[in-house]
Amino acid sequence: MTETLVPPKAGQATKRLFIKTYGCQMNVYDSERMADVLRPLGYASTDTPEDADFVILNTCHIREKAAEKVYSELGKLRQMKEAREGGMTIAVAGCVAQAEGEEIMKRQPAVDLVVGPQAYHQLPELLTRTARARGERIGADFAPDDKFDALPKARGVDGVTAFLTVQEGCDKFCTFCVVPYTRGAEWSRPVAAVLEEARQLADKGVREVTLLGQNVNAYDGEGPDGQPASLAKLAEALADIPGIDRIRYTTSHPNDFTDELIAAHRDLPQLMPYLHLPVQSGSDRILRLMNRKHGRQKYFDLIDRIRDARPDMALSGDFIVGFPGETDRDFEDTMDLVRRVNYASAFSFMYSPRPGTPAATMGAQVPDVIARERLHALQALLTEQQIAFNRSQAGRVLPVLFERKGRHGAQAIGRSPFLQSVHVDDADHLIGQIVPVEIERGQQNSLAGRLQTKVSNAA
Ligand code: SAH
Ligand code: SF4
Ligand code: F3S
Repeated sequence: MTETLVPPKAGQATKRLFIKTYGCQMNVYDSERMADVLRPLGYASTDTPEDADFVILNTCHIREKAAEKVYSELGKLRQMKEAREGGMTIAVAGCVAQAEGEEIMKRQPAVDLVVGPQAYHQLPELLTRTARARGERIGADFAPDDKFDALPKARGVDGVTAFLTVQEGCDKFCTFCVVPYTRGAEWSRPVAAVLEEARQLADKGVREVTLLGQNVNAYDGEGPDGQPASLAKLAEALADIPGIDRIRYTTSHPNDFTDELIAAHRDLPQLMPYLHLPVQSGSDRILRLMNRKHGRQKYFDLIDRIRDARPDMALSGDFIVGFPGETDRDFEDTMDLVRRVNYASAFSFMYSPRPGTPAATMGAQVPDVIARERLHALQALLTEQQIAFNRSQAGRVLPVLFERKGRHGAQAIGRSPFLQSVHVDDADHLIGQIVPVEIERGQQNSLAGRLQTKVSNAA
């Protein structure tokens, strides 16, 4: 394969790039930014790996299954690479790259380079070097400021909603979790940098931004006065940007939830009434073993205060079942917590022991069959709550931000303030707008509605 060492002119698409993204929203953001970094080198995105010159797997290490998927995908890519005239450059990025960089190189010789989450701004340089020698691995340090400073200002924007990373890393060290090891210490981008990126997004037609951080409500980026600014302050400043009509943020930790942020939900109409606030377990004993640093009562109290400020707040969460030592009684406490909180949607997982984390070597690992049973019971309850929440919207009029065309005719799909997908017929001319929609039906995963103007015309 002949790699040109002289980058083609900006915007000149000569090579094809395929990025496959696993894991959380931050990886989605990172994948978009990798495409931004490579665009000036002449790489244009393609939808299939078969015709790609450069394939990047942006990986997730959170559970064993997530990490193993990468190796099976790499096996397939290796065959493609061998069959493809002119070859193919293969990179592994993201959290598996950070955690298992050397092992990846050993297990799969078809991989040309490995790049951690804080080093992908160096992809152009790495690519040039890889043309001469295989086996670069980069990204063991955690200095996100270098990355954000080096990323191109221009973002390739596609659509009316966008992710925007404002905080990275985690200092919490929950005993089950790899994130503090793969993403490093908590670090926040300065307010000015976030605002600049948001203004650019708004100029390109983005109406809704979702601020991302592993602990986004621990945000403390440098403010205009040189002092740390809170997430509430950041949201206020973002709300002043013309065009940014909706602000969301994820993921929050209960211990970092301040009264100021609660008040912002009362005072800022742009802050959407949907909150992802993981608690992981409803058992105080398990919460202690998880090193979550709060108990169930504190979580209930917090939710009461949030609902006092914003009674229509829809809640979402994450749960782990089968954490080492979890008894039937502990699990019952989780079910009880879920019944009391009443979630609009939630994610639940079977505990997966991760190498290097304290929980992986705790005694009393719960057998798979029991954990699976608990997962099914929890998921049944959460699904029931989700359906009830979606059905309760029938008859209401909700503002919907239309994002894209649906599958049928002129149907359009948008989002309610509560992040539900809303399907509306004859609405594709409204993509990019926020429009009142009368909700007709709530289903498990979406709502069906009709344009309100139609209703009044018919009346
Ligand atoms: N920063 C976020 C979560 C990041 S990971 C937070 O603190 O809430 C996303 C979710 O994956 C976690 O909330 C947790 O529910 C789940 N998770 C993390 N490690 C896990 C493990 N070892 N096994 C199973 N699920 C896990
Ligand atoms: Fe992981 Fe806990 Fe940090 Fe969330 S707060 S990323 S679960 S260590
Ligand atoms: Fe996975 Fe890394 Fe996100 S481990 S969940 S991709 S921070």
